[in-house]
Amino acid sequence: MYLSIIPEPSEFKIIDGKAVFILNSNISISCPEGLENACDDLLRFLSKTLETEPDGSGVGLIEFKIDKSCAKPEGYIIKTDYDNIKIISSEAAGAFYAVQTLKQLLLQCNCELPLLEIFDEPEYSYRGFMLDSSRYFFEKEDVKRFLDLMALHKLNRFHWHLTDDQGWRIELYSHLLLAQVGGFRAYTNFGRKPHGGFYTKNDIAEIIDYAHKKFITVIPEIDTPGHVVSAIAAYPKLSCFNRELPVATNSGIHYDILCIGKQSTFDFIYSVFDEVCEMFPDKIIHIGGDEVLTERWKYCPNCQKLMKEKGFTEEKELHSYYINKIADYLKNKGFDVIMWNEDEKDGKISPGIIKQYWNSDPQNKPGERIINSSSKAYYLDLPYGHINLKQCYEFEPFPENFDKNLFLGVEACLWTEYVPNMVKAGYCVVPRLGAFCENAWSQKGKKSFDNFISKLPAYYRLIRTVPFGYALPHQAMPNFIRKTGYNIYFERRQLHWQGLHNIIDNRKVRKLAKKGRKNID
Ligand code: ACM
Ligand code: ZN
Repeated sequence: MYLSIIPEPSEFKIIDGKAVFILNSNISISCPEGLENACDDLLRFLSKTLETEPDGSGVGLIEFKIDKSCAKPEGYIIKTDYDNIKIISSEAAGAFYAVQTLKQLLLQCNCELPLLEIFDEPEYSYRGFMLDSSRYFFEKEDVKRFLDLMALHKLNRFHWHLTDDQGWRIELYSHLLLAQVGGFRAYTNFGRKPHGGFYTKNDIAEIIDYAHKKFITVIPEIDTPGHVVSAIAAYPKLSCFNRELPVATNSGIHYDILCIGKQSTFDFIYSVFDEVCEMFPDKIIHIGGDEVLTERWKYCPNCQKLMKEKGFTEEKELHSYYINKIADYLKNKGFDVIMWNEDEKDGKISPGIIKQYWNSDPQNKPGERIINSSSKAYYLDLPYGHINLKQCYEFEPFPENFDKNLFLGVEACLWTEYVPNMVKAGYCVVPRLGAFCENAWSQKGKKSFDNFISKLPAYYRLIRTVPFGYALPHQAMPNFIRKTGYNIYFERRQLHWQGLHNIIDNRKVRKLAKKGRKNID
């Protein structure tokens, strides 16, 4: 009998291919206190997918047990025998992951399990997925489908990109206009339709609760000091020169960013973080920090004044000054802080901040923890012509000679400038997330692309239980790079017009600065 599991487990033995455990509605489930989330997830799967409601009237038993010494944290053991399945885990999360494995087995063997033994534990503790809800606003129920998908892949960190130039998606009572104005833009890349929406506090609490039941930590990202046009649209004073701008409609990097030279900017950002920190109980937050153009700071009297006071000679020093200041603020609240790897700008960003590498190879710096999110392999919105399934699978995230204690793990990202619905989201994410999760969970020596391909039919069956969309194998592995197509054409045309706009706009701001129109705080 051939049975497969994604991600590949540490050890998997089929001792005898004949069925020893038949799952039907007579079985019972023994669930000790503390393992309710795993048992409930199994029961939901049995009733929703297998249309079985165990009533305990027969001898068949699925027995959950905790044994702290059985595996690493999150690890588990599954053993089948005549009329019983034993699930032993080191903690509650392990029992939940055992259930994810069991689902795959039950689907493949029509509920007739052979005599088998599985020992499994994760390679990395940080196994992330990022969803960009700013460029495209996903309804609450769709966000939950992503969490369902993460759980099936044994992923445990949901990085939620909630703010960007094109939309502010988190309701904050201290600054209501952020969501009410910043949450709506005039048109999208697709169909040029108005687009918008935001998550209320109740929505966010519901999503966090849903994630926690699946052992997923929720990490909100409030991206500053760049990528803030939506916030500036709501509160122009946040920008250098108090610019009145619409929420951005075009993608790319925007020149108008937070004015670091005004105390009012820090008052704003501290009160935003005060409120965000109250909403997210996992005590870990992402502060963005990526793609900061310093053009405005160069001409802004307030920013220049601050530079002089601090003895800075280059604008990029303002960037690290700002990042370190807000990271300290968040750390004092007991939060761990992550940012994108932008510190190569001047090397002065605190090593206490976790760096998420996306556009360069990870650097080994004393004491600095890192996550690898390489855009060469893990940016799942990029076309399959750029990152095919094999490239995603075979990418080695762990840098040579790296300190293992400082390497937290990996994260796949779904940016949504060109993802206007769940159909495209499914097409982009599956099956690459299957490939990615073997990099996150499985040991290096256990991985093989050929083996992964042979597991795909069973994998697609599993994905359909969510339900979630997907690309077919031939779509996920095109053998040439398609250079035409609507997206690329549209992107080029937009970049062309945006480039012209930026040149004209930057001239306008410089003239303003020259005329000495002071930007009074
Ligand atoms: C990024 O892709 N700008 C982090
Ligand atoms: Zn300024």
